[in-house]
Amino acid sequence: MRLFVTGWDGLLGSSLVPLLQESHEVTGVGIQDGDIADGTWLFPRVSAFRPDWIIHLAAMTAVDACEEAKDEAYRVNEEGSAIVAEAAFGARAGVLGISTDYVFDGKKQTPYGVEDPVNPLSVYGHSKWLGEEALGRYDSRWAVVRSAWLYGPGGRSFVSTIRNLLNTRETIKVVDDQVGSPTYTEDLARLIEGLVRREPEGIYHGVNRGAASWFEFAQEIARCFGFDPNRIQPTSTEEFGRPAPRPPYSVLDGSRAENVSRVTMRSWKDAVHHFIENQSWD
Ligand SMILES: NC(=O)c1ccc[n+]([C@@H]2O[C@H](COP(=O)([O-])OP(=O)(O)OC[C@H]3O[C@@H](n4cnc5c(N)ncnc54)[C@H](OP(=O)(O)O)[C@@H]3O)[C@@H](O)[C@H]2O)c1
Repeated sequence: MRLFVTGWDGLLGSSLVPLLQESHEVTGVGIQDGDIADGTWLFPRVSAFRPDWIIHLAAMTAVDACEEAKDEAYRVNEEGSAIVAEAAFGARAGVLGISTDYVFDGKKQTPYGVEDPVNPLSVYGHSKWLGEEALGRYDSRWAVVRSAWLYGPGGRSFVSTIRNLLNTRETIKVVDDQVGSPTYTEDLARLIEGLVRREPEGIYHGVNRGAASWFEFAQEIARCFGFDPNRIQPTSTEEFGRPAPRPPYSVLDGSRAENVSRVTMRSWKDAVHHFIENQSWD
């Protein structure tokens, strides 16, 4: 297949692009190529490549910054997705975009399925949800994979942040009242590759299995690096005080994506152990 990836040098793109290149013709664009919400440069690039699918990763992903720069968040995450969908339509390609667990309000206490109604709390979550809708604005094949709490080898993430903090502070406080689905970019990449092979349609949830609070996730990271997990102490969202509201519970049920892609996702604990043990940390 011929695959065109936006945001290809970001955290997820750094795992996804090399995997796709093993069995597909792949090209892509990063922020240095142009603004994703501007079609004038993107349309000819996409048409010239003639992709079967565009995989759309480019986004404003800094959740708290989106609260401050609201217009920019909607411009990139909603309008950017509409431009990518238009590019796909023009090239008769399908478009698969990546979205987020933050489209949910967290009032449920069991994993969110793809049919559950969304109710985003933050500008980031709302702009990503409008981006999902924008992908279906044209009469072309479209799919959305919602994921969550990503970490991997391609950039800074919660794993590297916790490691850095444990190297410089005796104790650190991490919130224990937000529960979600920590997900390894290398596993999500395999799932996305499996989906594009099988003509995906509509909404999917792509996550490692199980559930954890940020506190539990941080303690597991500490264990993997050989630190005493008791150096991580629980705190509350209120005490931590961040600009963007976050859902207290946003665990995703990934069964539809696993069935369609025929890729089995491992547990978040196995995934984080694998990542930390197989990465060079010097
Ligand atoms: N990270 C997570 O935990 C998470 C969870 C759920 C869903 N997602 C979604 O997964 C996708 C990939 O996320 P990621 O973690 O790989 O994010 P990332 O590392 O921030 O990559 C996104 C890329 O898009 C670029 N970008 C930002 N604004 C742009 C613009 N106007 N035009 C063109 N490119 C622009 C970014 O450039 P700069 O770095 O220069 O801004 C970055 O290279 C995103 O759609 C995100 O919403 C992420």
